Amino acid sequence: MDLAELAGRCEEVRKEWARASAAAHDPGAVEALRVRFLGRKGLVTVLFDHLRALPPADRAEAGKLLNALKGEIAAALEGRLAAVAQAAAEARLQAERYDLTLPGTWRPLGRLHPLTQVRREIEEIFLRMGFDIATGPEVETDYYNFEALAIGPDHPARDDWDSFYLADGVLLRTHTSPVQIRVMKSQKPPVRILCPGRCYRRDNPDATHSPVFHQIELLWVEKGLTMAHLKWILEEFVRAFFGPGYEMRISADFFPFTEPSAQVHIRKPPGRWLEIMGAGMVDPAVLTEVGYDPEEVTGFAFGLGVERMAMLRWGIEDIRLFYGNDVRFLSQF
Ligand code: DAH
Repeated sequence: MDLAELAGRCEEVRKEWARASAAAHDPGAVEALRVRFLGRKGLVTVLFDHLRALPPADRAEAGKLLNALKGEIAAALEGRLAAVAQAAAEARLQAERYDLTLPGTWRPLGRLHPLTQVRREIEEIFLRMGFDIATGPEVETDYYNFEALAIGPDHPARDDWDSFYLADGVLLRTHTSPVQIRVMKSQKPPVRILCPGRCYRRDNPDATHSPVFHQIELLWVEKGLTMAHLKWILEEFVRAFFGPGYEMRISADFFPFTEPSAQVHIRKPPGRWLEIMGAGMVDPAVLTEVGYDPEEVTGFAFGLGVERMAMLRWGIEDIRLFYGNDVRFLSQF
């Protein structure tokens, strides 16, 4: 090989470099280029082997050519490496950029059932007034559910409470009133309790009936209580729960365990009146049954429909919505 030929080879390597380096876009590819051109068997390195074969007069010139080529490619490699690193850094910056205005990851949040919300709110109102929470069993005996409440076996009022019987004399309670009896039998007056709980009746489900529903029973027995105290409690309660814009109506009713008995209706004009509870002065026969002296103490009680309260508050038209477990309904509360 002579000098001219070596110069030609240098040109070829230069062209090859230009072609190959343009295609190297990441640090790995640039490193491969370095090996391919400047490595021990690299395209540039092997050209140096030809120096010895040249006439001594040409060697200096050839050495210059080769060193120039080597320097050029080494410098280009540096540049290429820097460019690739910069591009990689920029791509990463771009990919990792945070947009702080984007909405966060949404996590579904549970909430309380509307009936639970209403129950707790009512509890709080009466706890503030000094009532205690009492509970009783959902599986009751005929005695507590009916007889002690002056609803004897043949009392026509039994028709009002279509019952689920589990065995002779054992049933699912049809109201929370039996808790009145249990509490009064277990403590001396004064008694001031609130009893929330599930009740069961053999009603066919429709927009206003459900075989399972909730009541809150209230009972206050003490010396000197009158119907006026009951009315005051009702007014305070309705104001606290509903706030302004609702009307209350108290009218006569009949329950075997109260005398006199009343029913309470609520409406948000111009809406319909909805009965929310039965109430009354505890019948002396009931007080006697639990061992209280009706000459000593009097009392009043009510049984409130929790579903009715929720329906009034939110304008819900169908009681079955409370038990359908439809998230579209439940998530609104
Ligand atoms: N227990 C009655 C019912 O379920 C409601 C009721 C009426 C409860 C009068 C009372 C009361 O405490 O005094 O229909």
